[in-house]
Amino acid sequence: MEKLVSSWFSNKTLPQSYIFPPEARPGNHVIPRCNTIPVVDLSKALAHDRIFIVQQILKASQEFGFFQVVNHGVPENLVTDTMNVFKEFFELPAEDKAGIYSEDLKRPCRLYTSSSNYDHENVHLWRDNLRHPCHPLEDCIKIWPQKPTRYREIVATYSIEAKKLGLRILELLSEGLGLGSGFFGDKLSESLLLSVNHYPPCPDPSLTLGVSRHCDPNLLTILHQGDVYGLQVFKDGEWIGVEPLHNAFVVNIGHQLQIISNNKLKSAEHRAVTNSRVARTTVAFFINPSDDCVIEPDKSLIDTDESPAYKPFQFKEFLLNYSSLMGNPEKCLEPFEIHA
Ligand code: OGA
Ligand code: NI
Repeated sequence: MEKLVSSWFSNKTLPQSYIFPPEARPGNHVIPRCNTIPVVDLSKALAHDRIFIVQQILKASQEFGFFQVVNHGVPENLVTDTMNVFKEFFELPAEDKAGIYSEDLKRPCRLYTSSSNYDHENVHLWRDNLRHPCHPLEDCIKIWPQKPTRYREIVATYSIEAKKLGLRILELLSEGLGLGSGFFGDKLSESLLLSVNHYPPCPDPSLTLGVSRHCDPNLLTILHQGDVYGLQVFKDGEWIGVEPLHNAFVVNIGHQLQIISNNKLKSAEHRAVTNSRVARTTVAFFINPSDDCVIEPDKSLIDTDESPAYKPFQFKEFLLNYSSLMGNPEKCLEPFEIHA
């Protein structure tokens, strides 16, 4: 518990063990907070603009691997309640969190700090993280935190809404790619994981990171980043900031969607920077294939002048390799690639 950044951070200078090597530091550069990350109005997907929305999502997923959605149908008060419950969780007294804290990777519901590899990593991340599965809900809910008292009720409702939103976006993507309706249903999107990041105010944000550069290993991520800036996406050799928009979700393409689409969709590298003023709490809802689901480029997405860029594998093999490489985005696709 004493390793948690939130347990010790106040009034301290940044410890050496949190200082990234110069090439990986965010530094003091002003990062443009671009409006270029597309913002999609999902309410239009219900009406005659559906084709336009499908194209907008497809284009964003090809060019950026990232977009934001507004008018997404998740009630605003539910999102506010959920974010408040997570903030309250991190503010609980240590004794109320002690039962959830664990360094055992096999514990499905756990609070820990930095990465899953604290003891062997070169540099620690300036974040604490709470994660747990959300499916099947009736079973999972029993292992979720019991404090704050509203946690289980509110987060259960949130996870149902986040799943609905995720499946809706996957449906629009499959329409755009010319895949059948329900293509991403069942096993490809069976495993749901909630990951809550908490980044306390940091004494020197120029030297450290909340999350280092990575692509998400899953199919699709639905992130709520609250109202504090910190997310950056790597595009055309530059970091660009993702503006926190009121009542919006950030959606990003995971490695599995890139693979299934034979590289037509892009899983973009991203990272989280810290700030010295306020704590930042974000929630990522990760939609994953089931462990034994076989992933491979879909035949209909391999153009006639192309060959498959990846060989078939089970999703659990991908995860094993991803964690052994600590998510290194340059290396984690390699064992699954077919070189023409
Ligand atoms: C993640 C992630 C970004 C953020 O949890 O995978 O990229 O802004 N989080 O918290
Ligand atoms: Ni991520």
